[in-house]
Amino acid sequence: PPTPESSGRRVVVAAPRGYCAGVDRAVITVEKALDHYGPPVYVRKQIVHNKHVVETLSERGAIFVEELDEVPEGALVVFSAHGVSPAVHAQAEQRGLQTIDATCPLVTKVHNEAKRFAREDKQILLIGHAGHEEVEGTSGEAPEHITLVQSPEDVDDLELENPDNVAWLSQTTLSVDETMQTVHRLREKFPLLQDPPSDDICYATSNRQAAVKQIAAHSDLVIVVGSANSSNSVRLVEVALEAGAKAAHRVDNAGEVDEAWLNGVESVGVTSGASVPDDLVQGVLDLLVDRGFPAATEERLTEENLVFALPPELRKRLRTGA
Ligand code: F3S
Repeated sequence: PPTPESSGRRVVVAAPRGYCAGVDRAVITVEKALDHYGPPVYVRKQIVHNKHVVETLSERGAIFVEELDEVPEGALVVFSAHGVSPAVHAQAEQRGLQTIDATCPLVTKVHNEAKRFAREDKQILLIGHAGHEEVEGTSGEAPEHITLVQSPEDVDDLELENPDNVAWLSQTTLSVDETMQTVHRLREKFPLLQDPPSDDICYATSNRQAAVKQIAAHSDLVIVVGSANSSNSVRLVEVALEAGAKAAHRVDNAGEVDEAWLNGVESVGVTSGASVPDDLVQGVLDLLVDRGFPAATEERLTEENLVFALPPELRKRLRTGA
């Protein structure tokens, strides 16, 4: 076989990729709760949308449940990074559960915007995906004010009672470009549409999309590491294709890379979603080396330095030993 040097093959790994500040905080929250209290620690929904993270924490004694009625009365439960609706907080209180809320502060920001627009009695158009936990949580803040808009095409069918008093918000992990198209169509239809005070699509989502765009145009194949239910990971595949990658696929880990994808491929780009530990990316890079590709070079678009403090209720418990 040709040596990597002689073949013109190359592998570029995008940066920023992988863990964002909100995921890091949520995973550390469960780890610290396990250290401090010992297992079991209940977690409502997947703490972050990554199979590997959930499996690793389960092995350490975290118990993942879908709903709070699966948690024994009085037990400790962590809410996931995607946020919960007020109804879930109320249910926890009613059942006497102890809670630690690992909702990403950037998701909480969107909840606060929803509450504010609702107080102003605005109709809120929430751009996002039906059934996603974040959308369920945000919608729960003001169900009677919020209408979900899933795509630019959805705009055509929208009928609003008061089209002059309308604002938009979005899920934090959407495609930046598609969301802007949706907003553009919304504004054509509702010229008085009010913007959120600041972007809802978070810094990590936009940075990972911009970084994959930069490498996609020069890639025969882009491999995105991330789980199927991870919205931002799935978006990275779409963005890579739109930016000119000849092919793009999502895998949970190196074991899911289909050898056939590598046939005739010279240039491979690799990245990962915001909930993905970097050793899974390393596994993919190692596999590529095994298959005759050279070691990866990193193309970094920007630095990220954001760190969030742990949830206050956890910090207090750790401090007081409660
Ligand atoms: Fe938060 Fe954005 Fe990560 S909303 S959990 S920082 S993807």
